[in-house]
Amino acid sequence: MSKRNHYIAVTALVIVTSFILYFILRMIYTLPIAASAEARPIDQMFTGHFIAIAFLFSLIMVFMLYSAVVFRRRPGDEEDGPHIHSNTTLEIMWTIIPTFVVVGFGVWGTITLNGLVSAKDNEMVVKVTGQQWSWSFEYPEQEGLTSPKLVLPVDRTIVLQMESKDVLHSFWVPEFRVKQDLVPGRTTTLRITPTKLGDYKLRCAEICGLSHANMMADVQVVTTAGFNSWVEERLQAPVYADMTPEERGAIWYSAPPGGQYAACSGCHSIDGSVMAGPTWQGIYGHEVQLTDGTAVTADDEYIRNSILNPNAQIVAGFQPNIMPQNFGDTFAAIEAEIQASEGIQIDMIADIIAYMQTLQE
Ligand code: CUA
Repeated sequence: MSKRNHYIAVTALVIVTSFILYFILRMIYTLPIAASAEARPIDQMFTGHFIAIAFLFSLIMVFMLYSAVVFRRRPGDEEDGPHIHSNTTLEIMWTIIPTFVVVGFGVWGTITLNGLVSAKDNEMVVKVTGQQWSWSFEYPEQEGLTSPKLVLPVDRTIVLQMESKDVLHSFWVPEFRVKQDLVPGRTTTLRITPTKLGDYKLRCAEICGLSHANMMADVQVVTTAGFNSWVEERLQAPVYADMTPEERGAIWYSAPPGGQYAACSGCHSIDGSVMAGPTWQGIYGHEVQLTDGTAVTADDEYIRNSILNPNAQIVAGFQPNIMPQNFGDTFAAIEAEIQASEGIQIDMIADIIAYMQTLQE
């Protein structure tokens, strides 16, 4: 085969393997859907890197394997190989071209990063707080409302001003592509312009202790109208921090937040009438007859125990296994939500006990 034909064969092989490798890389490293304006330049850089990786790998491997196979020593060939000293043109080329490619990627990266961090028109600030192991969000432009989930209007640049209460965390929603650390003692910034409506998950991307893997929050991208009505709804939502324990207890009794939890009022009256469970009227501090013949005083400990372990002390005249036995978990979930959105620690059972004390005959 002539020298020219070897070159043609190698060129063709390099082109074919580059394509195959590029598609394999694309298949292995599938990216989640791109849901922000920032995702586009980043995905373009991914494509650029995949092309460069596929081409360079093919170039080196094809040249090497082609030479090893085609120019291998034949049986009976005892000659020395030709002595090649150097090739100045080739050496200059393989120094200059990779230098330009690497510097080129660096410049491309710098320009992209600059575009991502620069201020945009009509920005909206959201404050993000990370702590072991939860996220909370504050909207200073929406009367400072707070939320345990991040709700964002579509097609508007959001400036996240992020702070950590304890250790390093990292804000990462893969669909938005961009990522930024939260550093204790300083405020870091991240800009996101959501472009696709939908539900996403915020994950902490910096190992931050035992529950790092569970440090997640819901992210919702909604229409501008949807965002405004969410703000309206959040602003009208009760602020538990401003209530007395008695007031909160009355809410837990009749309508716990979220709507998915059982209300005490389904089984316990407050006017003395008998329902599936004992009435709460006049119960606090009074003697209660149990099915086992003993009597106890309905004090804080008895009430707490009756909520957490409802089958432990059944009041005479009532049946066991009627009351759900998971109120401990239910209350913990509600308390965590209030902690995340209002930053206060609430003891729902203490609230209920306070409320019961107001229900004397
Ligand atoms: Cu916070 Cu990992």
